[in-house]
Amino acid sequence: TKVVLAYSGGVDTSVCIPYLKEEWGVKEVITLAADLGQGDELDPIREKALKSGASESLVIDVVERFVKDYGFPAIQANALYENRYPLATALARPLIAKILVEAAEKYGADAIAHGCTGKGNDQVRFDVSIGALNPHLKILAPAREWGMSREETIAYGERFGIPSPVKKSSPYSLDRNLLGLAIEAGPLEDPWTEPPEEVFALTKAIADTPNEPEYVEIGFEKGLPTTINGENLSPVALITKLNELAGNHGVGRIDMIENRLVGIKSREVYESPAMLVLIHAHRDLESLTLTADVTRYKRGIEETYSQLVYNGLWYSPLKAALDAFIQQTQERVTGTVRVKLFKGNAMIVGRNSDNSLYSHDLATYGAEDQFDHKAAEGFIYVWGLPTRVWSQKAD
Ligand code: ARG
Ligand code: SIN
Repeated sequence: TKVVLAYSGGVDTSVCIPYLKEEWGVKEVITLAADLGQGDELDPIREKALKSGASESLVIDVVERFVKDYGFPAIQANALYENRYPLATALARPLIAKILVEAAEKYGADAIAHGCTGKGNDQVRFDVSIGALNPHLKILAPAREWGMSREETIAYGERFGIPSPVKKSSPYSLDRNLLGLAIEAGPLEDPWTEPPEEVFALTKAIADTPNEPEYVEIGFEKGLPTTINGENLSPVALITKLNELAGNHGVGRIDMIENRLVGIKSREVYESPAMLVLIHAHRDLESLTLTADVTRYKRGIEETYSQLVYNGLWYSPLKAALDAFIQQTQERVTGTVRVKLFKGNAMIVGRNSDNSLYSHDLATYGAEDQFDHKAAEGFIYVWGLPTRVWSQKAD
């Protein structure tokens, strides 16, 4: 058997290589690491995989695809899981699954392996996505079955020349890509404990942020961000720049108790400066350019979309149907949003659009008022009719 293994370079995924070969009789392990803008050097990863016994080590740069095809649609969907988490990790999994399947097909592998535990969401996202893309591939998840503690895992790896982590390894479990950083475990497992400053990598502590606010203008075209302060930027450049601008003002931290699909409540700390600012700005531009009924109906779609992405159903018929609805709504969501970054806040302080449905002549209390006040009386008579009838019945 030949297996393609999702590989991060960490001890756990490295140990998967000898484990698959020794315990499960796999002949050949090909590792695949995805560059998602996590900022790690990926060259040493290649060597590490080969040293750990891989027959081939692939490193694939997918950061552009990631932002364009996974991150940007999530902005149009205002996707926030449980109203807060912008889904950086969840959005990466279906793309990783896709390149794993592509590699398996190219190299004629019979199975795909990953190092996820049995307690998380990531196993679900990988298994369900792989099954949707190629239901003939087997899925192997050694860490779900080996029952080794962290110490045992390290000891097992040492037997096969996998060096134990040099520094006393951090107690945190991290997952990072260009759209954000997820921080779990260690002292954070106590929901009462404040996250220590050391866990944050993308945002400044409020005490260290500038004492002057900074204004940022974000331009959108059909619901997709295209400019910052008038400058046209590629999706990757735009996210990179906004992560810096917002992070510098301490914008983008989230600390929440989250409901995993497997039923566990989990304490999660996130940093996602650009995605949070973009979703807030995008939603604001929608309030200017969409009718009230579409805006409200879309809220329900957004909720369903966020849950479905979180729960591993990126490649599903419901997702495709929601995408069609969302795309239709974005046709006129073009314009500019003005954001004021200051001391951990991203305040929307201005918006404009050629497609604005805001009418000054209707809204004003000044002399230019065009609203027909008399028409309100008849409208209210009809609007209030059912409740008047209901009230008389009670007498
Ligand atoms: N709870 C988040 C999610 O499910 C983050 C998961 C982080 N994953 C990890 N392997 N550390 O999307
Ligand atoms: C894991 O167990 O793989 C990490 C946690 C998660 O997937 O939510």
